[in-house]
Amino acid sequence: MSGRGLILAIESSCDETAAAVVERGARTLSSAVASQITTHARYGGVVPELASREHLRAIVPVVRAALTQANVTLADLDAIAVTSGPGLAGALLVGITYAKALAFANGLPLIAVNHLEGHIHAVLLNERESAPPASKDGPQTPGAPPFPRCSAERVGDHEAQFPADPESSLALVVSGGHTHLYLARPADGIWHYSLIGRTLDDAAGEAYDKVAKLLGLGYPGGPWIDALAQHGNPHAVPFAFSQVKTKLHLAGKAPRTKAARTAPIANLDPHFLFSFSGIKTAVLRYVELNNLRPEAEARRDALFTGPDAPARPTIEDALATCDPQTLDLIASFQHAVVGDLLKKTFAAAESLGARRILVTGGVAANRELRSRFTTEAARRSVSVSFPTLALSTDNAAMIAAAAWPRFLSRDFAPTDLSADPSLALGR
Ligand code: KG4
Ligand code: ZN
Repeated sequence: MSGRGLILAIESSCDETAAAVVERGARTLSSAVASQITTHARYGGVVPELASREHLRAIVPVVRAALTQANVTLADLDAIAVTSGPGLAGALLVGITYAKALAFANGLPLIAVNHLEGHIHAVLLNERESAPPASKDGPQTPGAPPFPRCSAERVGDHEAQFPADPESSLALVVSGGHTHLYLARPADGIWHYSLIGRTLDDAAGEAYDKVAKLLGLGYPGGPWIDALAQHGNPHAVPFAFSQVKTKLHLAGKAPRTKAARTAPIANLDPHFLFSFSGIKTAVLRYVELNNLRPEAEARRDALFTGPDAPARPTIEDALATCDPQTLDLIASFQHAVVGDLLKKTFAAAESLGARRILVTGGVAANRELRSRFTTEAARRSVSVSFPTLALSTDNAAMIAAAAWPRFLSRDFAPTDLSADPSLALGR
């Protein structure tokens, strides 16, 4: 233990095996990510059994890479953090089992982190890293005197070194598994979350992935659609999101997807509920009506499955296979999804009086989303923040950042910690 406030975090909830070392939840010393994209790409989505197998293969080298890049050893660490849910059970278990073994063997505390809380802390970590230190001493650097762990004064000192975290922020977590709105409030050094809204069926990223698959594009679909949408007319196909029916969830109907099961829906304002399965079906209908399926099959062959498919297809390769009608469809789909996220997020912020919005998760990497959220925030005089692109998608630095307040308050995991695939955040 160095007393430098070094946390090694491990993340394995879905299809990325990641490890990172972060100092005091505010300075990333390393962040290693082994992506399984090539393993799952041919199936157009994550195959849970393959994900567990790939995590097993990658976990040791990835953790070793994180320690090496950070120039630290296990003996320098103050705690191990790990994602305990939500996610794929087998995938989560690989990370948890390895984290437990490391913690036990090295006499370190183990901290369990909710993956969604991690995504929210990706934005906060980013802000702390890019903000100049408030005290003349700055953040603790290697060689600085060890801090008295977990004391209340130390929490105060730590906060004095970085700009105070915002009072209340509305966080939109928008990824392949989630589309959730939370009110995040720091109190006594700990973050508290209230669920404000969420999807009743597909997550926004899931809709991106399914539409991309339908059109013969690659997995994950978001980056392909993001890039191709720039070349189409976003107003060509008028996709509309109708207001989600209140009765559906109040009638006690079970939500349809895993993502929807991660949090309760009763008592949520229906204006802040999302539903993305309808637009996915609308795109499918458009494809059928306009006879675009043969073209999509030919595109899949040309880019991925055919004998002449390039080893690593580029956006230019994909662009060459798309006619204007397909590009218009892609641009219109994206415009509608981003518009719906924007409308509900800003309505929730206004209704809660939140002056700050954080947007995070894989879909937060989207260019149109960033640009339209930024414009709308300026128009309404509220602030909006996104993580860097690397911190938007799954990584372990965000898990270490979320673990830091728990470390300070000695909120350690029990020795029988297990994976919780439907772990909810907040209430
Ligand atoms: O946060 P993440 O890496 O993993 C989950 O927790 O799900 O998010 C992955 C999701 C995928 O659905 C992917 O298609 C989407 O994020 N995504 C994007 C973009 N980059 C990744 N969606 C839209 N635009 C992007 N640029
Ligand atoms: Zn994620």
